[in-house]
Amino acid sequence: MLTLGIETSCDDTAVAVLEDDARIRANIISNQDMIHARFGGIVPELASRRHMESITVVTNEALAQAEVSLRDIDLIAVTQGPGLIGSLLVGFSYAKALSYTLNKPFVGVDHMSGHLLSAFLEKDKPSFPYVALIVSGGTTALYYAKSYHEFSLLGRTRDDAAGEAFDKVARLLSLGYPGGPVVSERATKGSSSRLSLPRAWLDEHSLDFSFSGLKTAVLNYCNNCKSLQRDIQVEDLCAAFEQAVIEVLVEKTILATHATKAENVVIGGGVSANRRLRYHLGQRCIEEGKKLYVPALTHCTDNAAMIAFAGFKQFERGLQGSVNEDVFSRSSLGL
Ligand code: KG4
Repeated sequence: MLTLGIETSCDDTAVAVLEDDARIRANIISNQDMIHARFGGIVPELASRRHMESITVVTNEALAQAEVSLRDIDLIAVTQGPGLIGSLLVGFSYAKALSYTLNKPFVGVDHMSGHLLSAFLEKDKPSFPYVALIVSGGTTALYYAKSYHEFSLLGRTRDDAAGEAFDKVARLLSLGYPGGPVVSERATKGSSSRLSLPRAWLDEHSLDFSFSGLKTAVLNYCNNCKSLQRDIQVEDLCAAFEQAVIEVLVEKTILATHATKAENVVIGGGVSANRRLRYHLGQRCIEEGKKLYVPALTHCTDNAAMIAFAGFKQFERGLQGSVNEDVFSRSSLGL
């Protein structure tokens, strides 16, 4: 069975072809970073306009790489939310139109379930139950996954997502967009111990996150440097900031495994590309006797293969979308 996956929730136009639930025949991503870079963040109108221009091109490229035609596709799986409404509408309307004209079923997929299941795209697949840390530009959340369809939200950010905090700090330091890779790169040349930045642990057992205080502390440090006419120690600041984010992400993930007694941990989302996060979470999981599953980089960031996989699993359960359905901006998955 062939599933065409379509993902346009934010700034990447992505289309994949998945055979059954195992073989990725194509996984194409058209990235918009160049368009949004000069604004230091995503401009929603520009994102949806570019999705409109790209969606057919990227679909044709995916079909060509998979060596199939639209007629060979059995199921269309598309991101229904959460995300930017204008961006979601492009992919969702396109999928519904394809479904209608080809007379093939479609399923609307919650983007978060795609990230939660993305580890199944790898050879070394996790077993249920597991704790998943999903950490990206739009989300920072901990879930407990009991099966392909049963997820509980354990905690999420009360303000900024971790990736958003990286992006905002990068903008403050004029380092460009997206901020995560460049802040992390600058951090390698600095020392995290030369500056003291706060960690928001919240209540003792809380699995929620908060990064706005940390972001304000970075802003205050920069303002102090300016008023005292001192140079900003960019490398040290990046190292201290990255360390503060990672420490909270790692320790709250471990806390979630204690609370749920889960033996397995999965990470996903763009920030899971961060090498220090992978390393420290890996070390802590070894210390705690847990097994960590880290999807390949292309499966961690926004992609359509994970949407195809999640959609295929929904379809296996008998779920199908209808043309009257609409997109949604916020996820209620696991609530
Ligand atoms: O999942 P993703 O591709 O899409 C969105 O959520 O939009 O994640 C993008 C986010 C951005 O905020 C980016 O700065 C962050 O992931 N990111 C990183 C790294 N690579 C990307 N954050 C920290 N370290 C990285 N190496």
